Amino acid sequence: MLETYTAGPELHVLPSELPIPDLGLQPVNAYLLRGEEPMLVDSGMPVDRAAFEEALWSLVDPEDLRWVAITHDDRDHTGSLTRILDRAPGAKVITNAISLTRLSEEFRIPRERVVTVNPGSRMSIGDRRLTFLRPPTFDSPGTLALFDHKDGTLFSSDSFGTVLPKTVQHIGDAQVKEFFEGFDILNRAISPWTALVADQKFHRTVRGVSSLSAARLLSAHGPTVEGAMVDALMEAMSRIPSLPQWLPGADIDLEAVLDAHGASSA
Ligand SMILES: [Fe+2]
Ligand SMILES: [Fe+2]
Repeated sequence: MLETYTAGPELHVLPSELPIPDLGLQPVNAYLLRGEEPMLVDSGMPVDRAAFEEALWSLVDPEDLRWVAITHDDRDHTGSLTRILDRAPGAKVITNAISLTRLSEEFRIPRERVVTVNPGSRMSIGDRRLTFLRPPTFDSPGTLALFDHKDGTLFSSDSFGTVLPKTVQHIGDAQVKEFFEGFDILNRAISPWTALVADQKFHRTVRGVSSLSAARLLSAHGPTVEGAMVDALMEAMSRIPSLPQWLPGADIDLEAVLDAHGASSA
């Protein structure tokens, strides 16, 4: 867990980082959006539980927290979920029904404390209007991004993330080349199926996200992105399906094994 910082008005980042061998550090951020009805977007990693909750409750009174949006069920988004619900009696979970089913494999969440939404759903939380959508890349079928119309902030879940030699708070503090190299890796790593999709279909999704004209793009796995750089990330995302499949390192090289047995097709 790293020091919290702000990414915009009434918008706090609860940052951490996950070392990825041979690649660098993957940022892992949850976000607290204050307002008439404060909302937490994702809930940290299990390894950070104590520090995450200490940071969260220093930013918002448990009695005031109204919403916990869980963009999907992965562990790096759900670390403190049930402990937060126990501590904040007025808070409800917003998530997709598929994510809720998958969460129930590990957590017992009372149904009356959940609101389920789909891509295309809209809801108001106090002075904010939210639209939910499917981000272009994702690694769990219930994944949702959230768009806050009041401030023009897009919370994109895993999508639009990166891996960096050193995590930074704002994209302006990263080397552009390093940011986009990490971007190309992370977005393919979480969505290996992008190598299989038709470019036009993928581009339509990216155009839909781009049409929101977000002033600020906040990935769970990236620094704060604002202004013209939002468009640069949309362009970079459009190129993802045209890139070759990305695979992590492996101790066993299949081609070498086949060669050793004289069975390679080469
Ligand atoms: Fe994920
Ligand atoms: Fe994630």
